[in-house]
Amino acid sequence: EKGGYEHFMLKEINEQPRSIADCMRGRLDAKNGRLILGGLRDYMNKFQNADRIIITACGTSWHAGLVAEYLFEEFARIPVEVEYASEFRYRNPVINEKDFIIAISQSGETADTLAAIELAKSKGATIFGVCNVVGSSIPRATHAGSYTHAGPEIGVASTKAFTAQISVLTMMALKLGYQRGTLSESRYMQLLSELETIPSKVERALKLNDKVKAIAAEYKDARNFLYLGRGYNFPVALEGALKLKEISYIHAEGYPAAEMKHGPIALIDEEMPVVFIATKDSSYEKVVSNIQEVKARKGKIIAVVTEGDTTVRNMADHVIEIPETEEAFVPLIAVVPLQQLSYHIAVMRGCNVDQPRNLAKSVTVE
Ligand code: F6R
Repeated sequence: EKGGYEHFMLKEINEQPRSIADCMRGRLDAKNGRLILGGLRDYMNKFQNADRIIITACGTSWHAGLVAEYLFEEFARIPVEVEYASEFRYRNPVINEKDFIIAISQSGETADTLAAIELAKSKGATIFGVCNVVGSSIPRATHAGSYTHAGPEIGVASTKAFTAQISVLTMMALKLGYQRGTLSESRYMQLLSELETIPSKVERALKLNDKVKAIAAEYKDARNFLYLGRGYNFPVALEGALKLKEISYIHAEGYPAAEMKHGPIALIDEEMPVVFIATKDSSYEKVVSNIQEVKARKGKIIAVVTEGDTTVRNMADHVIEIPETEEAFVPLIAVVPLQQLSYHIAVMRGCNVDQPRNLAKSVTVE
């Protein structure tokens, strides 16, 4: 049932070209400029006219929500808040009928997310679910939703569900931007075409496995890791760090790269591997200076870069080159080598990758 793979996690990492394509199948038809999310149809009006989008989730799903914040604000110009469900539900939050709530959950059973939904519903907000498990509790509690169609995710560490969540949220943001007129027709068409190429670019990124494995061998005994990125890649840094800590038990922190000098920079010495997501995008130059700052303090630099980048190659200890895409779509590709890195490190440390200690696949207690 592991399809010849040693672990479910590795199988699920490798399934991503297909799971992302499955998620887009029947929804995205770039050639004809069509993008249809069935679940959104009856609620498009509410969505388009919302004063605010509130995204609520936990863990990896919350990271997907953070990516969506950048997507919705860039393409649709609606203010977004991303909330840990566990904080949101106990804060007596200000919510009203003009709020559009998006709840993201792989399992559809996370207790805090479910409770956050019930709370927002009681205040008259519209609730939209982005879930993977069909017929689970969250899709039943929401007004509408779009399934991620990633297929069953067995490994406790979420991988293909994350990229499928981002795929759905990306389609939602593009559709919303187009309908609201904040995205021009030509830009919309261009983005749809690029989105369609993502499964094949993820396929290419997966081929970096041997390179990533060699890096894993070099750093498997590290006691700490730092993950840094900016913009769309800031949530990717958080997700990379979460993947590493949950399955390898190495302490890892993700940070927005610019925040480094406000504290974490004190941790950097020759023992500290720092993973940068430094793709060619609007914050590239800034990230390059952050890399220089780490290098000056003798930190070890592992950088995920755009194919062909030579600047970072000359500075970093290791580079992982991923295919170029639209800035907004980079997380879908950049997260893949980070999933592989945590996987290989965990295996080399003899950890139980699919069933890490203390963790459950769905957290049905608060
Ligand atoms: C991380 C992980 C957890 C879940 C979180 C939310 O790999 O698996 O952080 O993402 O418990 O779970 P769902 O998405 O099922 O609500």
